[in-house]
Amino acid sequence: MPETGAFGLYGTPPSDLADMSAGAIQFSPLIPGARSLEDQPDGSLSEFVMLAPPGTVERRYAMAQGLRALAPGAPFTVLAPKDKGGARLAKELKAFGCAIEPYSKHHHKICSGYRPEALEGIAQAIEDGAPRFVEDLGLWSQPGIFSWNRTDPGSAALIGQLPPLEGRGADFGCGAGLLAKTILGSPKVTQVILLDIDRRAIEAARRNIDDPRARIEWADVRQPGSLATLCPTALDFIVMNPPFHDGGAEDRALGQAFIAAAAGTLRKGGSLWLTANRHLPYEAVLRDTFSRVTLKVEEHGFKVYEARK
Ligand SMILES: C[S@@+](CC[C@H](N)C(=O)[O-])C[C@H]1O[C@@H](n2cnc3c(N)ncnc32)[C@H](O)[C@@H]1O
Repeated sequence: MPETGAFGLYGTPPSDLADMSAGAIQFSPLIPGARSLEDQPDGSLSEFVMLAPPGTVERRYAMAQGLRALAPGAPFTVLAPKDKGGARLAKELKAFGCAIEPYSKHHHKICSGYRPEALEGIAQAIEDGAPRFVEDLGLWSQPGIFSWNRTDPGSAALIGQLPPLEGRGADFGCGAGLLAKTILGSPKVTQVILLDIDRRAIEAARRNIDDPRARIEWADVRQPGSLATLCPTALDFIVMNPPFHDGGAEDRALGQAFIAAAAGTLRKGGSLWLTANRHLPYEAVLRDTFSRVTLKVEEHGFKVYEARK
């Protein structure tokens, strides 16, 4: 086992399920400011703990990157909720050449072991999960990014309703930049600030959008400090298909926080354009925070609203 090197952490595992060093380096692409695991040199970590992501391709990619960056002989722990990929962890890690001792606790599967000298299938897993140009979308994307290889019907419904926009605006939770591409088609738009909590989405959006009016930033919309810095003056419009999953579980509060953040960032008379799954309870929050709310269309299970501040 290596005597020096950094402790790597990916995500925020429940503290009673995995030992974590206070000085751990965070590598999750969903935590703004975290380091990129892709940039971590081979064999440079002395320990690694990962709360593995739910998508199979994304999870195998992240585990392969983690094992690559870990020194031979160094210990690792990978865990996930049983119904969000945990049930497959042991098989996937064994296929990478790792001998592990899986056990279950608090609905999680936990796999611990030591990185073998020789890893198997790592290059293929990294290739399978790497960024790529998706012809059907006409965009760069990557497994793990929201709706990474198909157009989300909610986003399509919103694009169908967007009028030509004007002035300065933002795309909250921009993903790979699908909505922003439409917004930037309006010649009277002078600036669009694209924000997303997912570094992979931000990197894809930077490849997809080559327009001096776009500012693309890795940030959490729920952090008032980030918003105040990135949008210091009130905006004319905000467009969004807000997230409703946090760590794989439905979280309606997330969308409601996005609406509150939009209300706090728009100028009086400014417009929020929002698409959401029909079953999500956003109408009451919209009516509480905006002076006029109009349902523009309801189609394919989605509702599109314009809300004027
Ligand atoms: C439903 S997707 C929409 C993506 C894109 N706008 C589209 O229409 O294809 C929601 C996006 O919000 C991002 N997101 C989730 N929580 C966030 C947060 N707290 N701050 C910023 N972005 C967030 C997700 O990473 C995801 O890309």
